[in-house]
Amino acid sequence: MNGNEMKVGLLGLGCVGCGVIRALSRNQEEIERRAGRRLNIVAACARDLNKERDCDLDGIQLTQDPQQVVDHPEVDVVIELMGGIDPARELILRAIDQGRPVITANKHLIALHGSEIFAHAEQKGVNIAFEAAVAGSIPIIKNIRESLSGNRIEWIAGIINGTGNYILTAMEEEGRPFAEILAEAQRLGYAEADPTFDVDGTDAAHKLTILASIAFGIPLSYDHVHVEGISDITSENIADARSLGYRIKHLGIAKRAGEGIELRVHPTLIPRSRLVANVAGVMNAVVVKSDAAGAHLYYGAGAGGDPTASAVIADLVDVVRTLTTDAENRVPHLAYQPHALSDIPILPIGQVTTACYLRLQAIDRPGVLAAVTDILGGLGISIEAIRQREPDIQGADGSVPVILLTHEVPEDRMDQALSRIEELDDIVAPVQRIRIELLK
Ligand code: HSE
Repeated sequence: MNGNEMKVGLLGLGCVGCGVIRALSRNQEEIERRAGRRLNIVAACARDLNKERDCDLDGIQLTQDPQQVVDHPEVDVVIELMGGIDPARELILRAIDQGRPVITANKHLIALHGSEIFAHAEQKGVNIAFEAAVAGSIPIIKNIRESLSGNRIEWIAGIINGTGNYILTAMEEEGRPFAEILAEAQRLGYAEADPTFDVDGTDAAHKLTILASIAFGIPLSYDHVHVEGISDITSENIADARSLGYRIKHLGIAKRAGEGIELRVHPTLIPRSRLVANVAGVMNAVVVKSDAAGAHLYYGAGAGGDPTASAVIADLVDVVRTLTTDAENRVPHLAYQPHALSDIPILPIGQVTTACYLRLQAIDRPGVLAAVTDILGGLGISIEAIRQREPDIQGADGSVPVILLTHEVPEDRMDQALSRIEELDDIVAPVQRIRIELLK
């Protein structure tokens, strides 16, 4: 075994940073037997050095200045776990300038600035690893990038935000209020520093951007992702879905469709019989459908200190192993050779075709349903199921919920239908639409 020690600088001592320190110490021997070298954190930074932490910082040089870690004369490799764009972007570019590989869990940064970072890294022959940026502990990047390289990938659909799945699961199973469950996810270290990103779909969109790029060989296209969050999902929607044989999951979907690619994050009804419909709590799961391999399901903890640390350390070992290899023969950052990325157009959401669940609040009067079905029929939208809920849930205005399931319809046509339905006098609230995916 090579006795060389690999010295690591750690940016960020939050729950993932501490998870990395704990796992490197707990599994030191196992990791050294794999990497062929001892991996030691020699310097680390955090905003507040006096904070109580669940990891042993003995022997680590601590500072509040991240630049000191990047510039530390002994550091060979930098791990960035600060999150956010600034100053993480500057620090990573600086580490690259110094020829130091970087491991990052920063999906926000990679989704928005990955092209710049990878171009700079390729120019300098430096490796950037980001497995921990998507789906926590699940080695989804490595699997798509390396294990499926003989395939044409057709689509990816994933539960890729642990906090969101934790909230939807608790709403369904425990009926507790949204805010209370979110606070719990924050306490458990699952949520982003700004939990809005978990709830409004932004975090899942960052991750989907990365997955789509490595799956289809397209540039990182965050600005083209259609994003919807989970905050409009009610316990009534969850109960409707259940009674119709579905479950509501917040999915990131990247799919080849015609001449383009769909990139969308939104709540989705999926059949309860699908394995992925049973992914509960903070767990993540990604289904990848490709031509030769068929459908693969990757499942595991999607957030939290120890699970995310697992992905960070796997990257660290990979990076250490490739340090002495010829940069041109390493696995490309985004799976495809940088000059071979193709600009397949990302389809606007209006051109996406899905089946839909619609929830209408209608005055219980003869002719209302006929007017609704006339509008749908007139636009060529075919109805699969219709259900009027019992009078005992009649609103004070005499309205009742009506649930409709439609067959597949292009989004822009459904938009037209919904605005016409909402103009009817007997429809007393905006129509709720949730897309349906069969994931076949
Ligand atoms: N806030 C993220 C989540 C952390 O809940 O999935 C992991 O990326």
